[in-house]
Amino acid sequence: MSLNAFAKRLIATFPLGFVATVTPEGRPAVSPKGTFLVLDDDTIAFGHIRSPGTLANLTYWPEAEVNFIDQWTRKGLRVRGGARVIWPGAEFDTLIGRWRTVWGDLAGRIEALVLITAEDVKPLTTPPYDDGATEEEMIALYKAKFAEIYP
Ligand SMILES: Cc1cc2nc3c(=O)[nH]c(=O)nc-3n(C[C@H](O)[C@H](O)[C@H](O)COP(=O)(O)O)c2cc1C
Repeated sequence: MSLNAFAKRLIATFPLGFVATVTPEGRPAVSPKGTFLVLDDDTIAFGHIRSPGTLANLTYWPEAEVNFIDQWTRKGLRVRGGARVIWPGAEFDTLIGRWRTVWGDLAGRIEALVLITAEDVKPLTTPPYDDGATEEEMIALYKAKFAEIYP
């Protein structure tokens, strides 16, 4: 399954993905990664800066599911698939420029790249849409809520 225009736009605008992996003991583990990029129609990737647990889990079981959410429209995506860790070397050197373009100096702290194949891509929506809420209403509601939190 490939990433459609909605998926590419969502990840480019909100590159914070919550990455679920499985520990060697079979427990769930989720942690946020804010350096996601869409590499091509079938691949998303983040930079490993400080994610020892996720990297260890992927060595044990190389599969992940990632959730991306637009906090204003309350719509998002779940992307699941096989994961591959790319440590510094020729392939890393070819790809890291993409992160440098978007995040500048932060890219210098990336120790490895984690590529996830989008084998399964599913949309996410908040339940108020089931009752007829519109995107405009959701955006207005969450703009107001965020303005209350951070006036
Ligand atoms: C908003 C946010 C974005 C983050 N982005 C990244 C990232 O892109 N890469 C990374 O390695 N760590 C990132 N982190 C830090 C890791 O999520 C954090 O160190 C976490 O404890 C790692 O857990 P893990 O070792 O189980 O993956 C981010 C943390 C937050 C709160």
